[in-house]
Amino acid sequence: MRKKIAAGNWKMNMTLEEGKKLAGEICDMISKRPLKTMKANPGVIFFTPFIHLVEISKIIRGLEGVYVGAQNCYSKPSGAYTGEVSAPMIRSAGATHVLIGHSERRNLFDEHNKMLAAKASIAIENGLKVVFCCGESLGERENKKHFDVVEQQLKEGLFWMDEESFSNIIIAYEPVWAIGTGITATPVQAGEMHTLIRKLISEKFGEKIAENCTILYGGSCNSKNAQELFQQKNVDGGLIGGASLKAGDFFKIIQSF
Ligand code: PGA
Repeated sequence: MRKKIAAGNWKMNMTLEEGKKLAGEICDMISKRPLKTMKANPGVIFFTPFIHLVEISKIIRGLEGVYVGAQNCYSKPSGAYTGEVSAPMIRSAGATHVLIGHSERRNLFDEHNKMLAAKASIAIENGLKVVFCCGESLGERENKKHFDVVEQQLKEGLFWMDEESFSNIIIAYEPVWAIGTGITATPVQAGEMHTLIRKLISEKFGEKIAENCTILYGGSCNSKNAQELFQQKNVDGGLIGGASLKAGDFFKIIQSF
């Protein structure tokens, strides 16, 4: 069964103390209203900076359905790659998930599909679940290239995998023009892209795997618009940036299914 998920992408925000406070507040709310008592029984993931992983893993311990993930990992398991962090290190810090291919990584750090495929591969080999991001720029949408762009990102980034590896993938559709801009894709725009993504997965891996794959929407999703977005048939939750930095707002999003 496909899982509903609310994931917070903290990006490069929060000192360690601030992050512990934020996660602590959200976890308190979840302990009072456990996820499994909510109709959708959603999962929650905190994508924190690397240095927070160990501490936030301790804070979530014992809370069912709550996970910690890193926002990136390197494509090699170890070695002379100064400044990089590997999948085995992330796993050893208590994290279970990793974001791969966020548009900020693609655009600011030149990460391309081939590199992202290597990162996804090493992450899965080391027991991490991957939230793989895709999405078009404004220009690509204006030129009606958005479906092609997302298809190519998925094909090059993920569709070389076998079925077993692919079962560790969650997809996040994040139109670049909606990230951090306050402009959200309309439920119809999100819905049609998610439907296409599921169709592509089905063509590649079969209907059953496609039906079981969680596909998140990201891009200015907040406590006010989450409900309408999550009601779309193929939208299984959200990857939330700005609105995940306030405990009350993020908890409202968790309750929006
Ligand atoms: P946003 O970011 O919610 O602040 O638009 C989403 C993301 O980049 O994952």
